[in-house]
Amino acid sequence: MSLSILVFYGSYREARAGIRLADYTVSQLAGRGHAVELIDAKEVGLPMLDKRYMDYAPGTAPANMVALAERLVAADAFVFVAGEYNWGIQPGLKNLVDHYGNAEWARRPAGIVSYSAGRMAGARSNSAWHPTLTSLGITIVHSTVAVGGITSSLDESATPIGEGGAALDRAFPAFMEELEWWGAAVKAAKGQ
Ligand SMILES: Cc1cc2nc3c(=O)[nH]c(=O)nc-3n(C[C@H](O)[C@H](O)[C@H](O)COP(=O)(O)O)c2cc1C
Repeated sequence: MSLSILVFYGSYREARAGIRLADYTVSQLAGRGHAVELIDAKEVGLPMLDKRYMDYAPGTAPANMVALAERLVAADAFVFVAGEYNWGIQPGLKNLVDHYGNAEWARRPAGIVSYSAGRMAGARSNSAWHPTLTSLGITIVHSTVAVGGITSSLDESATPIGEGGAALDRAFPAFMEELEWWGAAVKAAKGQ
């Protein structure tokens, strides 16, 4: 079953490396026949949180906020590409997520794909996303992927390299299979 999947990435750094993993994730899922879209928080450009989408009177929210709300509601599944800053989650992606509530996020599965420069592979950020996403009514799938040494695992064109890249290629199919199972279940439950 072809699913509509949004892949979120939230680094605002000029020299950001996680975009490689975000691009890899998009191409892997697209290769399995899904309609996949990268939601790059920096590109979406929501302001530092003031009013949430729900706080605007109908028809008055900024156009980029409305466009993303519509994409969220239409999606069958989400993937969060989670970098780690100081043992926590990246503020740019958290800022994007906080603009929306259960009405836009709930009752969809999400997979978490974490990364970092070091050997911990963003594991602490990966775990830190759980309560936030759960609070929004998202179900986090059990399978996860964690990439350490991000720049020695994926080159600038998001091609896997070295031992880290080979490990990523081995781990990714099982992750996608579980996300697909939950995404298909949600789509069926919605009668689509
Ligand atoms: C502000 C900051 C804090 C960081 N903290 C951590 C950390 O806690 N754990 C870790 O493994 N790497 C940490 N790093 C290194 C990042 O894993 C690495 O820079 C990574 O490429 C960041 O993702 P990005 O390039 O997509 O922004 C930190 C980097 C920055 C810029």
